[in-house]
Amino acid sequence: MRDNSIEEVKSRCDIVDVIGREVELKRAGSNYKGLCPFHKEKTPSFVVSEDKQIFTCFGCGATGDVIEFEQKYYNLDFMEALEKLASECGVTIEHGRGGDTSDREELYRINREAAKFFYTAFRRAPNKGAEYMKGREIGEDILKKFGIGYADENWDSLYNYLKGLGFPDDKMLKLGLISFSKGKYYDKFRDRVMFPIINTGGKIIGFGGRAIGDVMPKYLNSQESSVFMKKNNLYGLNLTRQEISKENSAVIVEGYMDVIGLYQGGVRNVSASLGTALTDSQAKLIKRYTKNVILSYDADDAGRAAALRGIDILHGQGCRVRVLHVTDGKDPDEFIRKKGRQAFLDLTETALPYADYKFDAISRRHDMNDTEERLEFLKEAVGVLRTLSPVEADMYIRKLSSGYDISEGAIRKEMAETESGPPDRKRASREEHVDIPMGRLEKNIIKVLITESRFYERAGEFTAAFESTDGKAILKAMDRVYERGKEFDINLILDNLDESAAEAMKNIDCDMLPVGDGQKMFEDCLDAMKIEKLQKKEKLLTDKITMAEGMDDQVVKGLFEELSDTRSEISSLRKRGH
Ligand code: UTP
Ligand code: MN
Repeated sequence: MRDNSIEEVKSRCDIVDVIGREVELKRAGSNYKGLCPFHKEKTPSFVVSEDKQIFTCFGCGATGDVIEFEQKYYNLDFMEALEKLASECGVTIEHGRGGDTSDREELYRINREAAKFFYTAFRRAPNKGAEYMKGREIGEDILKKFGIGYADENWDSLYNYLKGLGFPDDKMLKLGLISFSKGKYYDKFRDRVMFPIINTGGKIIGFGGRAIGDVMPKYLNSQESSVFMKKNNLYGLNLTRQEISKENSAVIVEGYMDVIGLYQGGVRNVSASLGTALTDSQAKLIKRYTKNVILSYDADDAGRAAALRGIDILHGQGCRVRVLHVTDGKDPDEFIRKKGRQAFLDLTETALPYADYKFDAISRRHDMNDTEERLEFLKEAVGVLRTLSPVEADMYIRKLSSGYDISEGAIRKEMAETESGPPDRKRASREEHVDIPMGRLEKNIIKVLITESRFYERAGEFTAAFESTDGKAILKAMDRVYERGKEFDINLILDNLDESAAEAMKNIDCDMLPVGDGQKMFEDCLDAMKIEKLQKKEKLLTDKITMAEGMDDQVVKGLFEELSDTRSEISSLRKRGH
């Protein structure tokens, strides 16, 4: 069991993307190949597998997942690497405990099945969803590409379908696919066009459902869950990120249909913030692909307000942001349908850069003929100038001066006068940590130790295998208070633990079954730990073998030998247990 954030980071940071930024990778069969960054070589023996999300070098033996790559490449510890990736892919590291991996995997599976169900219904003629999208002039190829589906009008078709596949009610509820009322489960999405929301790891994390008639709400979205955090994701990015990298620019729009409309219209470096104000996480996510962002929100008041917040967020994250409000039609989708691709591209050329847009917005709020208000304007404009680089600020002082008829001297004076300490940078990030929950084996071993401390003499055999945060803390505390020949004093251990570990310790003390044959339990636990470790090795070796295509025969032979040794070790340990 691992914490949510680790899985979230792994599912979001595609290993090929991450390594590809540092190492030139070329496709080789189903894998990618390049020169190993960890040792010197002339012919590539460094292989990255997209399916397995691991890298391995057949020259020097370096192997691992995306987090291990970052650790090794940048010389970071686990937490540092995790945090680096998390911030790059826009994941907020959660504190405390999240659901475990198998739980999340099941949630993803349910969403995938639901998406298939909607997709199939959309393809079954005739249906209102397909008719509606036809009315919006979206072509078949685009509909397929985005996996558009239809949730029919019945109250329980999805529920029955998922039930039939054996998925439990509580998981469907958790995902917001169904609700419970008056003793019955019913589908939440009915008679809606369904837009699956897919993260950059290819997992379906949620849905947006557009009403076909005038039903409210116009769009119904999946509720937040451990797999769907709206603030961490951008709609469409799974399909458009390559284009965004290639163009080195992204157009961020408000809605699902804007993404689809622009994409169909030939503007493919696009993504949507899903109707909410843009978040820091989303800005970081986009920054993995480009720093140049064009915010193309609706021209209405809500769109303008959202754009104003959005540009501050993006600017704050170091993006070069410009704002575009389409002039013809209410949103980018309508615009491109009416005017076409070239007209949209022409318009993007006129998009206002951050500072210009800010000055414009500030001046709209003030009566520029009133002296007092002009002064207010100047103060606020200076606030914007402060967030710019010196060179940019200098340029904008001149622009501000000529554009709003204020002397450069007055602006510079205002800047000097109100100069206050360092700009309010974000507070240093708190010390973050991810908890890895305690597994059964660790608990058993601790139980044995507090019952019979003599096993502590063999700490060397199990300490390294402890993975959980609390488990490690407990071992450390035990180490502090251990006295040879004396049983452990639980209270002394507790005194050396933080709240969470102390809680875990108390639970082990009370809840675990009393140790019968301590010796046997201890040996069994050690064996089980060894088996777990060997199984990981076995899995890694089989993965490596599938990645060894084109490598030296000797290397491949070596891997097979190692695999066979590992397997016999596992089976002899297994036999010993019985
Ligand atoms: P809009 O109201 O601008 O809709 O909302 P739209 O994208 O232009 O949709 P169409 O063209 O009428 O079909 C923009 C975005 O805000 C979110 C959705 O993500 C939507 O795409 N939204 C809007 C909701 O989540 N719920 C709503 O009820 C409305
Ligand atoms: Mn629209």
